[in-house]
Amino acid sequence: MRKTVILVCIGIMVSFAAAYAQSDEPVTYQDFIKGKEAFEENCIKCHSLERPLKKIANREEWDLTLTKMANTGAVLSKKQRRQVLEYLVAKSSFQVKCSVCHSLERPLEKNKEFQDWIQTVRRMAEKRPGHLTDDEIEAISGFLTVKGAETKLY
Ligand code: HEC
Ligand code: HEC
Repeated sequence: MRKTVILVCIGIMVSFAAAYAQSDEPVTYQDFIKGKEAFEENCIKCHSLERPLKKIANREEWDLTLTKMANTGAVLSKKQRRQVLEYLVAKSSFQVKCSVCHSLERPLEKNKEFQDWIQTVRRMAEKRPGHLTDDEIEAISGFLTVKGAETKLY
């Protein structure tokens, strides 16, 4: 069932405005799925996923971490690197911005499709004007859609 939902979402291929600033190609919903896959497959080879999952950092800091990991021996294609970066940046935004009024468990325990997450996150954003940019709303919604029921953020 969950697979079907994801496939339907891929069809939507929402483009993430956040990416325009960073690269020529827009980030799509599929990038978030691939980013999560590449993250879970590669970032567990030398240490637990707990290490990156509990780290909260901005884009520049994550970029630096990924370079550090590549120098240590982590192997990602250029595309995968970018997908993992977007995934980790979105994850961090989620941790910072969604823990202000309630615990992260509240959204983490829910599964929704992308379009529904966008609506929920916009509703949250309206509760505190200026708290979330449009880019953050889209990225956090992308992260929440692909997170999976097992995601623990420590
Ligand atoms: C080839 C081995 C290897 C792989 C693969 C690897 N790491 Fe690491 N990672 C390390 C080592 C060694 C350290 C400890 C060195 C340190 O603390 O600077 C570390 C530490 C970290 C830390 C804590 C230090 C920091 O800079 O914040 C994070 C976060 C991290 N890794 C993220 C990742 C991510 C994300 C990936 C997947 C892209 C990854 N790692 C893949 C070897 C690896
Ligand atoms: C300014 C305070 C505030 C912030 C910031 C906030 N929330 Fe909420 N959230 C609430 C309140 C209050 C409720 C309960 C009332 C409601 O549902 O509107 C709630 C309820 C929820 C629910 C349960 C209701 C539902 O529709 O599923 C989810 C999920 C949720 N928040 C997710 C998030 C996410 C994701 C973020 C970060 C983007 C976030 N919240 C940020 C105040 C906030």
